[in-house]
Amino acid sequence: MRKKIIAGNWKMNMSFDEAEDLLFNIVDKLDPNLPKNIEVVVCPPAIFMELATDVADDSLMKIGGQNISNHESGAYTGEISASMLGSLEVDYCIIGHSERRKYFKESNQLIGEKVTVALKNGIKAIFCCGELLNEREAQNHFAIVKTQIEEALFHLDEKSFRSVVIAYEPVWAIGTGVNATPQQAQEMHAYIRKLISGKYGAEIADITTILYGGSCNSQNAKELFANPDVDGGLIGGASLDAEEFLKIINSI
Ligand code: 13P
Repeated sequence: MRKKIIAGNWKMNMSFDEAEDLLFNIVDKLDPNLPKNIEVVVCPPAIFMELATDVADDSLMKIGGQNISNHESGAYTGEISASMLGSLEVDYCIIGHSERRKYFKESNQLIGEKVTVALKNGIKAIFCCGELLNEREAQNHFAIVKTQIEEALFHLDEKSFRSVVIAYEPVWAIGTGVNATPQQAQEMHAYIRKLISGKYGAEIADITTILYGGSCNSQNAKELFANPDVDGGLIGGASLDAEEFLKIINSI
């Protein structure tokens, strides 16, 4: 059975005290009988990573980074390496988020390097892909996602690919309040699974977790997660409120 994941991407939000409150609120209220195939991942800003892994210790909550350097170590002022995350027992890292692509000009090539370095250091990659509004309007959405996946992931061998989670996040749905319809999400997720099957075979495709992200909240989560190829969500704004995030977790 493939893993289902609800991951919260806090982006650049929260003070230390707010982060501490939110982390404890999530951990304290997580269902202790959460089915084994469901994982909850919280991705706070890097500065709160040690706090987060401390709070998460011995709980059902896993912790992820939001970004890492493509370099292993060295003179890269301001950067954070995969091995640093690994040394704090961080399990996941979001890589290739559309905000990184847009504001920090991250290319598929660079994102591919980050995925490689994450996996090499035992960090599972939550790889983000998704089209812009004009790309969907021009009916180019499948081609765009295909290129993003091929260029950033398909250099991986089969064993490494098993540690990749894919998050389909149509850029027009991020922070807009306009989520993809369950049909649009299912259609793209099925397409992504087919791409993976073509490269790595049906067994790997079948166990790959594919998340939906973009204005996912407690109102629309159930309908989105009901689709056979939607294995959970990467949640932005709605992950900043414990009650709301827990409701989304309970929708899977
Ligand atoms: P929102 O849920 O705020 O639309 O953000 C989605 C996202 O970008 C998660 O990575």
